[in-house]
Parts: sequence; C-alpha cells; structure tokens
Amino acid sequence: MRIALSTGGGDAPGLTAVIRAAVLTAIGRGWEVLGVKRGFAGLLGEDDVVSMTRDSVRGIAHLGGTILGTTNRGNPFKWPKRQPDGSFLELDRSGEIIVNARQMGLDALIVIGGDGTLAIADNLADKGLRVVGVPKTIDNDVAGTVTTFGFDTAVNTALEAIDRLHTTAASHDRVMVLEVMGRHAGFIALHSGLAGTADVILIPEIPFQLSNVCDKIIARGKAGRHFSIVVVAEGAAPKGGEEATMGPSMPGQDRRVGGVATRIAYEIQQATGKETRSMVLGHLQRGGMPTGYDRLLATRFGGAAVRAVEQQRWGHMVALQSPHIVTIPIKDALREPKRVDPSHDLVQTARQIGVSFGD
Ligand code: F6P
Repeated sequence: MRIALSTGGGDAPGLTAVIRAAVLTAIGRGWEVLGVKRGFAGLLGEDDVVSMTRDSVRGIAHLGGTILGTTNRGNPFKWPKRQPDGSFLELDRSGEIIVNARQMGLDALIVIGGDGTLAIADNLADKGLRVVGVPKTIDNDVAGTVTTFGFDTAVNTALEAIDRLHTTAASHDRVMVLEVMGRHAGFIALHSGLAGTADVILIPEIPFQLSNVCDKIIARGKAGRHFSIVVVAEGAAPKGGEEATMGPSMPGQDRRVGGVATRIAYEIQQATGKETRSMVLGHLQRGGMPTGYDRLLATRFGGAAVRAVEQQRWGHMVALQSPHIVTIPIKDALREPKRVDPSHDLVQTARQIGVSFGD
C-alpha cells in the first residue's frame, strides 16, 4: 500500500499529532507513506510530495501548525490562476489530481481539513479518488463528530486571555470586549466565556441588541460591579444586521470576518459612559501547543484514519461519537453545518447564572 496525507484549510493545534499517528500506524502495517505539501498543491505539481518516515514524525506531537503546510486558497475545483492583467481566473484542476494520484501509484489519500477541505475531498471521492477524511477545525463546526481537535486548545487560549483581562478590567473599572474566532459558530465564545465567567457572550447563532448588552453592564454597575467582560465571536451580528467584515480577501479565499469587538466597544462606551477597551485574540487561538485532550483526539483520529483506509471506507471521515471513534460518510457530516443550539444546556445554564446573550 502506498498512501498520502494532506492538510488543508486553516491550521489547528493537533494536526501534527494526527500526521504522526497516521504515519506510524501505516508504517507499522508495512505501508509506504507520502506527505503532500500545502493542501492539494503537491498533487498539482505546484509543491512537493515528500516521503514520510518514522524520522519525519519524530518529536512533533506537541507542536502546533502542520509540517506539511496548508492553505485556504487551495480548492482544486476553483484553482486561482493569475491573469496578465492581475485579475484571477478560477480553473477546475480536479482532473489533474486524479491523474497525478494514479501516476504516483497512490492507493489512498487521507485528507485532514475542515468543512471546506472535506467538501473538496468528498468531490474528489465522487470522481474516483480513494479518500478518507479527518475533521479539523478550532471552531468545532463540523457535524457528525462530538468535537474536533484544536477546539479544546483554542478554548483554553481564549480562557487564559479572559482570565488576564478580568484582573485588569477589575482594577480599572472598565469594560473589556474580547473577540474570539468563530465565523459561523459560537462554540469558542460560549465555552471560553462560560468557563471564564464572562458577563456577556455574543455568538452568531443568537443575534444581539446592543441596548441589552448595555443594560447588563449598567445593572452590574448598580450592583457595585464596575467592570464587565464581554466575549464576542467574530461572526456575531446585531439583530437584523450583518457581521463585521474587514479588508479584501485574497483570491480564492472566503470573505474575512472580524472587527466586531472594536465596533461594539465604541458603542458600549458611547451608550454607558463606561471606559471600554477591546482586543482581538485572532490567530493566537490557532497557534501553539495542543492540549492533552487535543493531542489524544488527534492521535486517535490519525490511527483510525489508517484503519478506515484498510477497510476501504472511501468518502468517509473519522469522527468522535463518544466514547468511540467511528467512520461516517463525509456527505452526512456536511449535510447540516454544526452550530450552537440556543436551547443547549450550556446556553440555558449560562442564562440562568446571569450571562447575557444580548437578545
Ligand atoms: O479555522 C477557522 C477560522 O479559525 C475562523 O474562525 C476564522 O475566521 C478563520 O479561521 C480565519 O482564517 P484565516 O485568517 O486563515 O483566513
């Protein structure tokens, strides 16, 4: 057997642990393993395909990032090609991937990625490529799996930031607004906000009204609590309004969401008269060492992906359905995006202990 691994989309802590586990599991079966560099670029001749040995994965389980490189501008069905006038054309180069994989003698490709990369993997599987997926996202927004590796690390990074902001907010009697990642899903904001005892949590799934956020802050002031912590997911939007976006995206990339913290910090200060500061945690949530939980989940996913290849589960992805790792069709996982359920016990409990969602 000759298999290849590729990592696509935004990186997430735990990718290296998946790679390590998959490589060691496959080598243990006497298989040959290749690493495709920078998403699918290596399979299009735009980057390298390298041999993966025990040495290539030695001492990497605790590292962030991916040793294979990644891109979120690497959809082979819409490959951006620069034109002489500087504009970009989108080319369908998926057929080349099928041909190149065959020429390389690949028996299977393990694709590690979020919903975008998994959708590409599924389309390649429909074209005949023997693909197994591994779900990855710090946002935890892939359905069919209880969680994805990277999420726990991101929550803990956000939590540390909230803890640190608490002491300075309390010392200065300020409102601190922390923007965390989550374009479409508010899991990082909800989990870190609740664990960090935020006063207000704003998520894309629950449109907010700024007057409600300000009411909460003013009520705290009246009760003698002169500081407040607001945790906001980057994709949170006011009722009837749009999420904040920033700057033009690169060709082939999704629109960039962000800037909501700055916007609402200004509005809170105007409406309440309370000194308000904002900060954007950004890519700190994606970098650095994975937590023990994420290393373990990533290792389980890596091993299970190789077993899925052995069982010829083409077009399937590994998933955590506690306490087991299972395989499910990628199509099933992608049918409905995973979002925070506003009636979930975390939201209920948060409300009942006084957290405002601004609704
Ligand atoms: O991994 C998903 C995500 O973390 C989103 O929450 C965020 O909007 C996005 O990645 C940012 O990715 P990049 O800056 O790499 O485009």
